[in-house]
Amino acid sequence: MAPATSQHMSERLPLDPGPEQARELVERALHLVTEHLDGLGERGIHPRRDADELVTRLLAQRPGAPRSMSSALSTLGEVVAAGRETTTGGELAYIPGSGLLTSAVADLLASTLNRYTGLPGIAPAAVALEGGVLRWLCESFDLPERAQAVLLSGGSMANLSALVAARERLGADGLARVYVGAQAHASVRKAARIAGLRAEQIRVCPSADGLRLDTEAVRLAIKDDVAAGWRPMAIVAAAGTTNAGTVDPLAELAELAAETGTWLHVDAAYGGFFQLTDAGRAALAGIERADSITLDPHKSLFLPFGTGALLVRDRADLQRAFAEDADYLRDLDADEALPDFSELSPELTRAWRGLRLWLPLQLHGVDAFVDALDHKLALARRVWEHLAADPRLRTWGPPDLSIVPFRAVGDDVLQDRLLERINDSGVVRLSSTVIDGEVALRLAVLSHRTSDTTVEQALALIDSSLDELGVTPAADG
Ligand SMILES: Cc1ncc(COP(=O)(O)O)c(C=O)c1O
Repeated sequence: MAPATSQHMSERLPLDPGPEQARELVERALHLVTEHLDGLGERGIHPRRDADELVTRLLAQRPGAPRSMSSALSTLGEVVAAGRETTTGGELAYIPGSGLLTSAVADLLASTLNRYTGLPGIAPAAVALEGGVLRWLCESFDLPERAQAVLLSGGSMANLSALVAARERLGADGLARVYVGAQAHASVRKAARIAGLRAEQIRVCPSADGLRLDTEAVRLAIKDDVAAGWRPMAIVAAAGTTNAGTVDPLAELAELAAETGTWLHVDAAYGGFFQLTDAGRAALAGIERADSITLDPHKSLFLPFGTGALLVRDRADLQRAFAEDADYLRDLDADEALPDFSELSPELTRAWRGLRLWLPLQLHGVDAFVDALDHKLALARRVWEHLAADPRLRTWGPPDLSIVPFRAVGDDVLQDRLLERINDSGVVRLSSTVIDGEVALRLAVLSHRTSDTTVEQALALIDSSLDELGVTPAADG
């Protein structure tokens, strides 16, 4: 039952509500949250109401006279119902983002306590709390003592910050070149452009098997480029591509980067936290040699959207890229033991992001994440084994991590019809992509809410949809 109302339409809520009103506000918000979470499984993935009228109304809305919290929250309820439900375990499309409640509670705390963590001297313990999590991240990837992690808004900002750091160390001019795989995430090419590189300075290298960057192809590209007067600046590898979850040959690429004096950046936005598991650590072997690593806690650590991380092997590279002096900060104490985020990232004033990671890690413990990630790997393996055994489907080998692409025997139109049929069920949602120039469906297991039952439901839906569409094995078997 929703809490009883004490705040009426006509009342103006003070900017600093008293304890009673504050409690009522939070309880009302909490009520919406628990109702949402309680009904998640049953509601499926489809929007529960049409968005058009609501979108028009909201775009026309202007803040004016105050209204009650219950009225504001009822609008929010409509907003949530008008979009796809992406926080259920049935979300197996794109890169699922489930959102831990404990991290959301940390957001409430971080925002109300509003500690200033852009500089170390103002709230040193708040910076230390985040610093401890950052150290743990660096240690999880076996990076040296001089390594540094920073939390940013997401993987795109981490990729951008990494390429700016590489540019500042190696000096980019019009002849610098960055080597990326055909399967690299779009944010990598975007980052290179924002970092000042022109399109011809971004060299897309082929993959040996259509999915994983081919080290020899990169080696040849670098050799040719050097002979032609280009200056190789960075190799960007993927530790979990968005399309197929595949991991580039990181150890080989690290060797090549060392030989050629280039910066190795590993975009592990999707796959990075599998490093916490034994199987994931084996799949990501070589990542510990990277100059920089992008991680997205809002992907494989199940956090709500808004937290990315960049790990850099040598904090001096971040300082070179981002440190600036400011006269008006002269009266603030420096503290050598603490990270100074203002000189390690593009931001100054920032959300106290550390709490979003710290609180879940405190409350659940690291092993809860290790178990959940191991479970995702096992579920993806189960999906692949089932699909690979069906002669009506093409698959691309056992999953490196937790994404399984597949394609039915038939043309691209058939793939779209298959996807539509599966998603129309309202139980699970898959998405599609293009691999080797052909449309493929993909099933991504990453939500902390995806269970064995969800996966069995998805497999049964794939089977029955193939039956209904009359798909048969290829004539040559
Ligand atoms: C491999 C990879 N890199 C980078 C990104 C960009 O991350 P974000 O959306 O957090 O900016 C994504 C997002 O899906 C991704 O999958």
